[in-house]
Amino acid sequence: MKTAITDLFGIQHPIIQGGMHFVGFAELAAAVSNAGGLGIITGLTQKTPELLAKEIARCKDMTDKPFGVNLTFLPTFAAPPYPEYIAAIREGGVKAVETAGRSPEQYMPALKAAGIKVIHKCTSVRHSLKAESIGCDAVSVDGFECGGHPGEDDVPNMILLPRAEEELRIPFVASGGMADGRSLVAALAMGAQGMNMGTRFIATREAPVHDNVKQALLKATELDTRLIMRALRNTERVLNNRNVEKLIAIEQEKGKSLKIDDIIEEVAGIYPKVMIDGDMDAGAWSCGMVAGLIHDIPTCKELIDRIMADAEVIIRKRLVGFLDGTFTATAPRRKVA
Ligand SMILES: Cc1cc2nc3c(=O)[nH]c(=O)nc-3n(C[C@H](O)[C@H](O)[C@H](O)COP(=O)(O)O)c2cc1C
Repeated sequence: MKTAITDLFGIQHPIIQGGMHFVGFAELAAAVSNAGGLGIITGLTQKTPELLAKEIARCKDMTDKPFGVNLTFLPTFAAPPYPEYIAAIREGGVKAVETAGRSPEQYMPALKAAGIKVIHKCTSVRHSLKAESIGCDAVSVDGFECGGHPGEDDVPNMILLPRAEEELRIPFVASGGMADGRSLVAALAMGAQGMNMGTRFIATREAPVHDNVKQALLKATELDTRLIMRALRNTERVLNNRNVEKLIAIEQEKGKSLKIDDIIEEVAGIYPKVMIDGDMDAGAWSCGMVAGLIHDIPTCKELIDRIMADAEVIIRKRLVGFLDGTFTATAPRRKVA
């Protein structure tokens, strides 16, 4: 399949693996890129720019395909040394950066001077237009379903994607709730040129996380995520667990007077406990509603090949079949056409 996104990043399939804290290590990024998608190393999981440089070098040992680095611009006073992180990316020869969080405007000249393609993750049309205006090459439009930070507008992809198509001139991928061939075809139908997946890629053989995390995703349904930190205007969609329930009880008690310190134990330093130690009740970690669509733990190649094969069957048989009257069967459960 050829789209503006496969052209932009020089990849075979229009599938991107979004940056994920303590998941997006070289092993996963390389596996996704080797399977023909765009794998992404999560920059800030590496505590220093020097460590990011090493992670990039490790990834290059595992793949000769293009891969990217995620840079999340956090709303914090003690900002990480972003220029040094960008230098590590540039010197590592990485040609794709997924930015997220705050606007990457101040860093665009450095990224562009290095010939890096920038895809900014946005949860609204207005932020996507801003990204376009500051020279981003593409956007990843993240709907309300997404794992992580869906923003504060609560617009799901069924509306957000066609709205993005109405306004944007640069290409975009659909992000949030994407899992399979059906997601890809739907995303393309709504104007996207590909899709970005987070949660789905955690449940793959190569994702370097504790098996408890993958099993939790297999077990979870679309009803098992919760929104937290709304009162702080830093909403995050996470998988429910004992400490998330405790956190939500604190939020309900404090209401609008909630401060980050009230819930710090349930949100700070949780990722290594979950992803490395497999402590599934440690606290809040990002997870999308798409958990309800995760039923197995394939390799990244099996997953991507299946998505592309299923997408082709849906387009050629189901959709064309509806047009010419040759497709009338109702799809059996979990089968494609
Ligand atoms: C465990 C986890 C950690 C994440 N960490 C980050 C991050 O550090 N930076 C970022 O930009 N997005 C992060 N995300 C968001 C993903 O890149 C992606 O946008 C999101 O997962 C898409 O929604 P989906 O999970 O429904 O596929 C994270 C998502 C998950 C599930």
